[in-house]
Amino acid sequence: TERPAPGHPAPVTLPTARPAGCPFDPPGELTALRTERPLTRMRFPDGHVGWLATGYSAVRAIHADPRFSSRYELLHYPFEGGYTGELPPAPVGDLTGLDAPEHTRYRRLLMGKFTVRRMRLLTSRVEEITTEHLDAMERQGPTVDLVEAFAQPIPALMICELLGVPYAGREVFQRHVATVMTQRATTDEVVAAMAALQNILAELVSAKRAQPTDDLLSDLTTTGLTDEELAGIGSFLLAAGLDTTANMLAHGTFALLSHPHQLGALRADPGLADQAVEELLRYLSIAHTSARSALEDVELEGQLIKAGETVILSIEAANRDPERFPDPDTLDLHRKATGHLAFGHGIHQCLGQQLARVEMRVALPALLTRFPTLRLAVPPEEVPLRHGMNIYGVHRLPVTWDER
Ligand code: HEM
Repeated sequence: TERPAPGHPAPVTLPTARPAGCPFDPPGELTALRTERPLTRMRFPDGHVGWLATGYSAVRAIHADPRFSSRYELLHYPFEGGYTGELPPAPVGDLTGLDAPEHTRYRRLLMGKFTVRRMRLLTSRVEEITTEHLDAMERQGPTVDLVEAFAQPIPALMICELLGVPYAGREVFQRHVATVMTQRATTDEVVAAMAALQNILAELVSAKRAQPTDDLLSDLTTTGLTDEELAGIGSFLLAAGLDTTANMLAHGTFALLSHPHQLGALRADPGLADQAVEELLRYLSIAHTSARSALEDVELEGQLIKAGETVILSIEAANRDPERFPDPDTLDLHRKATGHLAFGHGIHQCLGQQLARVEMRVALPALLTRFPTLRLAVPPEEVPLRHGMNIYGVHRLPVTWDER
């Protein structure tokens, strides 16, 4: 067990405790580290000593640098109480755990299906689904859990329709996805949940090979991918589609309701929606952390990262770096937030970002327009936060409004 050289600070452990009463801010220790040592040594729960990057420039550079690998089996797990021992390699079809050229092959096939144009074509369907859910909320209200009534079902329906997965099965796969997203889930639990998801998808894939329907999974059956690859890609996309935008919609609404000035600005000018969505992505950074492993020795910002060392990339700290975003802790819907790292950066940059953007740009303004008096139904400190989850947000958001 090594000792820090004189003058070198001891390795930190990954800070995860968010400041009390500030549900939108990253852990305070992360913020302090970014100021003092934006790339610093970090001790992992398994004893490995690697690195923690909190500065915008380091986090961005490492995401884009092919000398860093995304392969899970090369990474050390950063969160206490989760995986123990070596990480298993990425399941077949999981893009985030692959490097080029294996990654490139899948990515090319999928890029053609997730183009900006294609996602824009889905706008009218997002509008329809949003309207249906707002109608249902109105019938059910005037107090509802916004997560259950609005934030979860809209992206879930969209990804199911896009892939061609029956929405009726959602309770089962939503449970498996929740397990995969929990930091403290054991290796066995995660592996079992992934396998269960893959089985569901495998059945669907063989059905679609026999009888193609008008959806992405059927489309992909003609690309030379094996059934196992298709089931893997399908489960990965389903998981990615279920538990990401949903958290942006709910946590984004919570943030707006907690910043009445900003909320007012968006209500007054729906043309602000595109910009507002980028700022909410930056400000909330719900995909708070990613990780890479150095394939060779790399010198970066005056430090030497050695081959085999894992670097944790704090997206949430980077997106609040004052060197990149002036007054970073202020939610300001009028700022130019482009260049944020909420979708990552480089070859793994989020494949679903255009879909997520369409969903947010449609659903958030529609919610505010439909319910001009929307407000929290509980004190803000009672909103249960998604601590210890790979994607941050709220578990529930009780809201209410005045009936017309
Ligand atoms: C990758 C965030 C929505 C599919 C990523 C990464 C981030 C991210 C940070 C990069 C991970 C890394 O570099 O290690 C988000 C956020 C979302 C969102 C904040 C919502 C607001 C979605 C949706 C889908 C999706 C709706 C599916 C349709 C993917 C895929 C990858 C990915 C397939 C892997 C891409 C690759 O490795 O080449 N996402 N995501 N995401 N995301 Fe998203």
